[in-house]
Amino acid sequence: MKVLVTGAAGYVGQVVAARLAETGHQVTGYDLQDGCDIRDSLTLAKTRPRLDAVIHGAARTLVTESYQDPGGYWDVNLAGTYTLLNAARKAGVRRVVISSTAAVYGETGQEPVGEDHPARPGSPYGASKLAADILLGRFAAHHGFAAASLRYFNVAGAHRGGGGTWLGERHDPETHLIPSVLRAAARKTPVPVHGDGYPTRDGTCIRDYIHVTDLADAHLKALQAARPGTHHVWNLGTGKGWTVSEVIEMCRIITRLGITVARRAPRDGDPPVLVAANDRARADLGWEPVRGLEQIVRDAWAFMQQEGAC
Ligand code: UFG
Repeated sequence: MKVLVTGAAGYVGQVVAARLAETGHQVTGYDLQDGCDIRDSLTLAKTRPRLDAVIHGAARTLVTESYQDPGGYWDVNLAGTYTLLNAARKAGVRRVVISSTAAVYGETGQEPVGEDHPARPGSPYGASKLAADILLGRFAAHHGFAAASLRYFNVAGAHRGGGGTWLGERHDPETHLIPSVLRAAARKTPVPVHGDGYPTRDGTCIRDYIHVTDLADAHLKALQAARPGTHHVWNLGTGKGWTVSEVIEMCRIITRLGITVARRAPRDGDPPVLVAANDRARADLGWEPVRGLEQIVRDAWAFMQQEGAC
């Protein structure tokens, strides 16, 4: 297929684009880094070649930041998605997979969480992504789109691309747990632990960490599986949760470095537990996440060493 990937220079977008190319698809990248804004319908309309599908990953994605700039989140994540879907419709492209998030569920009080769980996002980020999902559903119903929202849980690790180069996660500032811990290990600085009084087995938050290569493979399968006139929603997680303290311990094991921690206040909007029920993705897509936390940390560490990003 000829596929446009928005957010193609980002962490997940890079890996999705690489996996598409590795499996024989023709990829066109679309990213703000190259001056291509999804809110700019003219640039979108000029995109060549004629496309078979769009994978829409461009978004603002930080829960805490979204409380400080909710308007910016609505603008990119909802208005931007609307512009993109409209441009796709006008161009006759009716196969669209978008990046959604576990943040749409909010505090679930139930684990693991399936796609039919009521979506009650706490953060502006989660709300903006839920709105984009609803919008995509309307494009499926009204315009016959073959549409899928992929609800990512905590994406982590790095992908080994062609030539052995690692594609991984590098944000500035870095807020995600695994790269933060690895960076702190290399710099011999303490890792901030945001909240240790949660109702979990050791008091720290539980998350479901999914390897970015497994996540990217689900995009390829979703592209094929999506049916016209239908909006599919698939959770992408492993079904297994790890506490922040357990993740830090895994980083100690892999790096063989002593890692110290510093207690910090809980972050706004952090649910205590978020773990995916992934049965639907397994059944519908024939997909299975095969890489666990140990490999996630090992690959993230390999990427960090490649980058010298310590
Ligand atoms: N954490 C720390 N110290 C750090 C960094 C994170 O204690 O230095 C904690 C957080 O408080 C949280 C957990 O580690 O409890 C995971 O935090 P991340 O920032 O790695 O990930 P989040 O769960 O906050 O958010 C990520 C994505 C969102 C997505 C969500 C879905 O950034 O886009 O996963 O679970 F919605």
